[in-house]
Amino acid sequence: MTNGGRRRSALPCVLLVCGLACTAVVYYTDFPVSVSPCAYDLSRTLLAVTGLDSYIVSCANEGSTGTLGSSDGGGRAKTAGGRPIVTDLLHCGKPTLPANALPPYQCCPPMPTSDPVDFRLPDPSEPLRTRRPAHVAGADYMAKYERAIALMKALPRSDPRSFYQQANVHCAYCTGAYRQVGYPELSVQIHFSWFFFPFHRAYIYFFERIAGKLLGDPGFALPFWSWDVPEGMRLPVAFANASSPLYDPLRNPRHAPPKLVDLDFSRREKNYTDEQQIQYNLRIMYNQMITNSPSASLFYGQPLRAGEADMPGPGPMEIYPHNTMHLWAGDLSLPNVENMGAYYSAGRDPVFYTHHANIDRLWDTWCNITRGDQRHLVFTDPDWLESSFLFYDEEARLVRITVRDVLNIDKLRYAYDKVDIPWLNARPPQTLSVNNKEEVEY
Ligand code: C2O
Repeated sequence: MTNGGRRRSALPCVLLVCGLACTAVVYYTDFPVSVSPCAYDLSRTLLAVTGLDSYIVSCANEGSTGTLGSSDGGGRAKTAGGRPIVTDLLHCGKPTLPANALPPYQCCPPMPTSDPVDFRLPDPSEPLRTRRPAHVAGADYMAKYERAIALMKALPRSDPRSFYQQANVHCAYCTGAYRQVGYPELSVQIHFSWFFFPFHRAYIYFFERIAGKLLGDPGFALPFWSWDVPEGMRLPVAFANASSPLYDPLRNPRHAPPKLVDLDFSRREKNYTDEQQIQYNLRIMYNQMITNSPSASLFYGQPLRAGEADMPGPGPMEIYPHNTMHLWAGDLSLPNVENMGAYYSAGRDPVFYTHHANIDRLWDTWCNITRGDQRHLVFTDPDWLESSFLFYDEEARLVRITVRDVLNIDKLRYAYDKVDIPWLNARPPQTLSVNNKEEVEY
């Protein structure tokens, strides 16, 4: 458990019927790499007692109409009886930043001149954007991403498509700047809950389309940083060139290439050989994607509904390798491990979007992994499906997009280049324990 840059709130304990007592709810400002035993066990307990697994359909069948309800100006009205989370655009306020945060100190987007429009799927005749792994994409492909970032950085800060504003999107959705419609005391925090995967999918979807628009290339696709496969287990070299717009000086200098990533990084360097580290990483992938994610309820994270306090509990992948890779990439000598290691600043590093393209690809991979002849499954809980987020699109129009809208990447007109997934065969000889990681010796 990391302790730096974290603010603990004095929220009351929640006692569980299962007899587990929670410690105080913790509000994180940096990316935690461990989770309270209560939150982690909760997912399994709730699964059993709530029967959430009855809300399931096949990933591939889940379509999108993009036409749910109508806008109410600040946010869409709550569905009768349901409790989807809706962002209150009109009351974006001061973010809660950790001590010693680096400027800028606010992250609300420019105020729109009109109501948000409901998301509409791209035209099926649009070119399919095929995202490629950064380590094999080639210099031309990476140069395109580099150009896109340069163009975004060159836009005025008042433009919602500028890199400055795009980075702020992440800040606004994880520092309490946004509030829930109808619950001004409650923030919209998209981490540590079932919104982790869909929110970030929507975020990089718009980011990618903005990049394509600026490049004049409607087929532009993001590179993804495939840190889960041995060839991708280094920071892609394009990001390490100090004169590139992809470079971020606020990174851990010890982790420049050719240093291998540690998917279980928790501030301490392991003295593994490359071969050991690769094996260790693959086993982590197996554990998080297979052993600890046997169902949608476990994979996605805990339900968060309107009127509830945020961060009910993460799915296994969010803690690691997702959070651990944020910590691995950020500058450990800074109190909040900026940029990648803190929620408010992570979007400021161009590698963030390739990291999240990989997370998104792994979501898609998880959906497609078959077990015997059973497909993996997703929720059809309406509170999840109808929860919505706000983004500016490539035309600088404010769009409200729901979880339902992002479930089918084919309909979103993008795809992932096929990558071998050797971790599928990397079942560890013993189960890694999330809460007792130190027990695991290589
Ligand atoms: Cu919103 Cu990788 O975090």
